[in-house]
Amino acid sequence: MKRLFIALGMLGSAAVAAPQAELAKGKQIAEQVCAACHAADGNSNIAAYPRLAGQHHKFIFKQTKDIKEGKRTTGAAASMMAAIQQLSDDDIRNVAAFYAAQQARPGETNPKANPQLGAKIFRGGLPEKKIPACMACHSPNGAGIPAGGTEVTAYPRLSGQHADYVVEQLKAYAADKRTGNMMRDIAKRMSEEDMKAVANFIQGLH
Ligand code: HEC
Ligand code: HEC
Repeated sequence: MKRLFIALGMLGSAAVAAPQAELAKGKQIAEQVCAACHAADGNSNIAAYPRLAGQHHKFIFKQTKDIKEGKRTTGAAASMMAAIQQLSDDDIRNVAAFYAAQQARPGETNPKANPQLGAKIFRGGLPEKKIPACMACHSPNGAGIPAGGTEVTAYPRLSGQHADYVVEQLKAYAADKRTGNMMRDIAKRMSEEDMKAVANFIQGLH
């Protein structure tokens, strides 16, 4: 836990804004290429399209590259793949910096969809099923932990993400359709009820 808090303490310095010129270029790409699906400010209202606002730039960069190169083919990623083929690495870096700098709009937890179980899993896990607490890696408020230098160690932000999207991703990890070794093992131990409950909790987390 101590290391987690040190990492969180570094959030401020790690989140140093990208130069204005890059953000301006990123904004242009977001508006021209991504907005139709993810919304211009990254707060999409359609569950199939993940929210990108406030997500860590290294995570956005890695996932966008994976989708561009056909390494991530879950959901409707194929439709995105076609739309981003012309983008260079610098373009993707700029648009990632732009979305990372956008304010995430909070979502809501449905009080009728098992929020207690969701909170329990997120904060304490289910030790009897060897499911760890999600907050150990995604942080207590779901903001995640930015990369310590590489894309691989970026723990993505989850708070406010569409519940249906989160369930789909957990299923994709469980079925080995998405890379991310840490998540595959965890998702395999979760029942559909566990997935839905924690996803509902995450949607309202902020
Ligand atoms: C035609 C619609 C479409 C367009 C245009 C599009 N995307 Fe996507 N994007 C998607 C879909 C659908 C997914 C979810 C795929 C899945 O279910 O795994 C996705 C997933 C992502 C993810 C993964 C997010 C996560 O939380 O794992 C990132 C990052 C992303 N898109 C960035 C972008 C960027 C940057 C652009 C513009 C350069 C863009 N997308 C353009 C449809 C689109
Ligand atoms: C040991 C650390 C760790 C724990 C514990 C953990 N995660 Fe993750 N999670 C990760 C990493 C790393 C990724 C990024 C993997 C990748 O590259 O696809 C991730 C990705 C995800 C994603 C995909 C996010 C996106 O936008 O694409 C979801 C959803 C998720 N985790 C949910 C959970 C839930 C729910 C729990 C608790 C049951 C949990 N995680 C526990 C490390 C962890």
